[in-house]
Amino acid sequence: MAATNPPQAAQQDWTRTAVPDAAPFAPFFRAALAVAREAGAIIKTAFEDGQAPPNPNIKDANDVDLVTATDQAVEALIQSRLRDAFPDYAFIGEETVAANNGQAPPLTARPTIICDPVDGTTNFVHGFPFVCTALALVVDHAPVVGIVYNPILDQLYVAHKGYGAWCNGQPLPRHRAAHGMDARAALFITEGGHDRSQVAMDAKIGTWRQALAADGKYPPVRGIRCTGSGALNLCMIARGAADVYWEVGLHAWDMAAAAVIVTEAGGMVVGDEALDEDRRKTWDPTSTPFDVMGRKAMAIRKHDVAFMRETFERVTDYPCPRD
Ligand code: IPD
Repeated sequence: MAATNPPQAAQQDWTRTAVPDAAPFAPFFRAALAVAREAGAIIKTAFEDGQAPPNPNIKDANDVDLVTATDQAVEALIQSRLRDAFPDYAFIGEETVAANNGQAPPLTARPTIICDPVDGTTNFVHGFPFVCTALALVVDHAPVVGIVYNPILDQLYVAHKGYGAWCNGQPLPRHRAAHGMDARAALFITEGGHDRSQVAMDAKIGTWRQALAADGKYPPVRGIRCTGSGALNLCMIARGAADVYWEVGLHAWDMAAAAVIVTEAGGMVVGDEALDEDRRKTWDPTSTPFDVMGRKAMAIRKHDVAFMRETFERVTDYPCPRD
């Protein structure tokens, strides 16, 4: 007898397999997933309109840090839905922070929703299809739920601490999980970012040069990629589609959701607690939590402390004010 496809409802319900009702933060996960899908519909409609937003505004007098009416409308929607459902949770959202002169509220032990309504705003403005909504729940400073939805490519990445990571019904990682970590075979993701100061450019270009041409101490990597979205860069690591991602200058909303997706996929992500040379002296890879507000991320697709230490040596860190 010919195999029949599972009923559509069952196909669509993979998120209940990924995060069962027994998971401690399942109610948040389901509410956040519903609003991420609503957000995705709004973003996709605006994206497919084919008209770049006429006047994307800039933030903090930085010509390359854009914001559009869609970013603001989507954050307002997410905030109202999730604050109604979880009134005791704190909220940190990219556009709410921007409206408060860039001042993020301090992250405390209290459950905190961290939201990037549109990560990849420059892509959104240009029609480059790496655009997503990223929603995280952070409890006692640690990300425990992550949802990253790219509505243009219809890729939904989810994770709940302790329950694994998934994309469109498939457990992560999807690619090359059997290969060891080896710089010579590595795809390295990094970004131009928004900070174009001399110190930042020296560090970034120095890192690119070192990664591509190497210096004799380490071999060159196979290639460099950028998606233009910090959250989607981390999801590429979780997929196993790239080996290393490093960026300084990210914000909590770019990193928090996808950080739990990386670790639940079996990867490793560290922040300022390990990238800053002084803080690294006391870094214990088994117990130091990822510094969500530290503006830095280094992620690798497998938990491999020795390879992580090697990658520290290959990038040039630089100072960045905390969120
Ligand atoms: C930016 C993107 C970009 C990264 C920047 C982020 P936005 O977020 O994630 O890839 O290089 O550091 O600020 O502005 O598109 O939400």
